[in-house]
Amino acid sequence: MDNNKSRGFTSNIGAILAAAGGAVGLGNIWRYPYMLGQNGGGAFLIVNLFFVLAIGIPLMMTEFVIGRRTQSNVVGAYKKLERKKGWATIGYFSILAVVLIYAFYSVVAGWTLNYIVLSCTNSLSGLTPNEIADAFASFTAGSFWPLLYQFCFLMLTALVISFGVQKGIEKISKILMPVLFVLLLLMVVRSLTLPGAKEGLQFLFKPDFSKLTGAGVLGALGQSFFSLSLGMGAMVTYGSYIRKEDSLFKTSLWISVCDLMVAILAGVVIFPAVFSFGMDPAGGPQLVYVVLPNVFNNMPMGGLFAAVFFLLLGIAALTSTISLQEIIVAFSVEELHWTRRKSSIISMISIFVIGIFCTLSFGPIRHWTLFNRTIFDFFDLVTASYLVPIGALATTIFLGWFYPKVEVKDEITNGGALKCRFFELYYFILRIVAPIALIIIIVSGIVG
Ligand code: PHE
Repeated sequence: MDNNKSRGFTSNIGAILAAAGGAVGLGNIWRYPYMLGQNGGGAFLIVNLFFVLAIGIPLMMTEFVIGRRTQSNVVGAYKKLERKKGWATIGYFSILAVVLIYAFYSVVAGWTLNYIVLSCTNSLSGLTPNEIADAFASFTAGSFWPLLYQFCFLMLTALVISFGVQKGIEKISKILMPVLFVLLLLMVVRSLTLPGAKEGLQFLFKPDFSKLTGAGVLGALGQSFFSLSLGMGAMVTYGSYIRKEDSLFKTSLWISVCDLMVAILAGVVIFPAVFSFGMDPAGGPQLVYVVLPNVFNNMPMGGLFAAVFFLLLGIAALTSTISLQEIIVAFSVEELHWTRRKSSIISMISIFVIGIFCTLSFGPIRHWTLFNRTIFDFFDLVTASYLVPIGALATTIFLGWFYPKVEVKDEITNGGALKCRFFELYYFILRIVAPIALIIIIVSGIVG
C-alpha cells in the first residue's frame, strides 16, 4: 500500500464530505442568512458567489497543493517546501489562529448541545418570547452549564479525532453530512409550506443593490474565507489526506458547492419561518437561539422541528470542530511525535482551558475587555480581521512568488495526467488577484 493511501482519505467522496463538513458550520447557518438579509439579499448572494469562484476556490486549491505535495501538517508542509528558512512561520501562525478560533467556536458549539437537550425535552414550548430571551441570557451568562456543554462538545470531537483520519474523520463525515442534508431539506419543506413564506423568500433573495455597501462587499469576501475555512491550514491538513489521483480542482469545486448550498438553504429555512410569524429577523446568535424557538413554538409540530433544527446545527458545528482539532493534532503527531491519542487529549484540554475565558466572557468576566471587547469578541476579531487574512496572504505570496510554477502545475494536473485548462487563470489569481483582495481586507480591518 502506498503511503498516501494508508495515511489519508480512502476515496474522493470521503475527502469531499470531510472537507465540506469542515467548511459547513455555524458560519453557514446563522451568519450567512443574516448577512444575506441585511445586505441586499440577492445582491449579496451574487457578490459572494463571485468571490467564492474567483478567490475562494483558487485559494482552496492552493492549500490543497501545499498539503498534498508535502503529505504534511501545516507546519511540516512549509518546512518541506521552503528553500530559505522562515516560511514555516506561516504554519505556526495558522496554529495560533486555529487555537483562538476553536476556543470561541466551541462555546457556541456547546450551546447547540444545550438547545438539542431543551428541544428534545420540549422545555422551550409554551414559553413567552420574553421567557425564551431570558432563558438564553441566563444560560449563556452562567458558568457551570455552558462550560459543561462546551467540555462535552470538545470531548465528542476529540473522540472522533482519536479514531484517526479514516476510521474517525472520514467515516463520521460520510454519515453525518448526508444526515445534515436530509434534515436541512426536511426543514426547507416545512418552512416553505408555511403561510407567508413568500415574504421571507423575497427578503432573502430580492437583489437590492442599493443596500449593498462597501462594507457589505467586504463582508461577502470575509464570509467566503471563513465559510470555506481558508487561511488557517484546515485545507492544507485535509489536502495532505487527498489521494494523488483525485482532481484538486473538482474536489474544491464540490466542497464550495456544498458550502454555498447549505448557506442558502439555511436562509430558506430561517426567513420564511421568521416572516411567517411576524418575528424580527435579527442577526447573530439571537436569531438562532432566541427568535427561532419562538417561531417553532408557533409552528404546527414545532417541537419536532426545533429538535431537528438544533440537531442539524450541532452536526454542522461538530464536523467543523473536527477539522479545527485535526489541524492541531496532525501537527503534534507529525512534528512533536506524540501519539494520536495523546495529541487529541492534550489539545482538547488546552483548548478547554483557553475556551473557559471565552465562555465566561458572557457572564462572570464580561467586564474583562481587550481593546474594548470581551474576550470572546476579541478572539473573533483578531482571527477574522488579522490572523486569517494575513496567513492567507503569506500563503499566496509563498506559493505564487517563491515556489516554482512547474511544481504547482505538476500538483494540480496530477503530474500531467489531468488537463487543467484554467491553470494560467488560476495562477494569475494566485499571484495577483488574491493577494490584492487580501491586502484590502487587512487594511480595511486596520482602518475601519
Ligand atoms: N467554516 C466553518 C464555518 O463556516 C468555520 C471553520 C473555520 C471551521 C475554520 C474550521 C476551520 O462555520
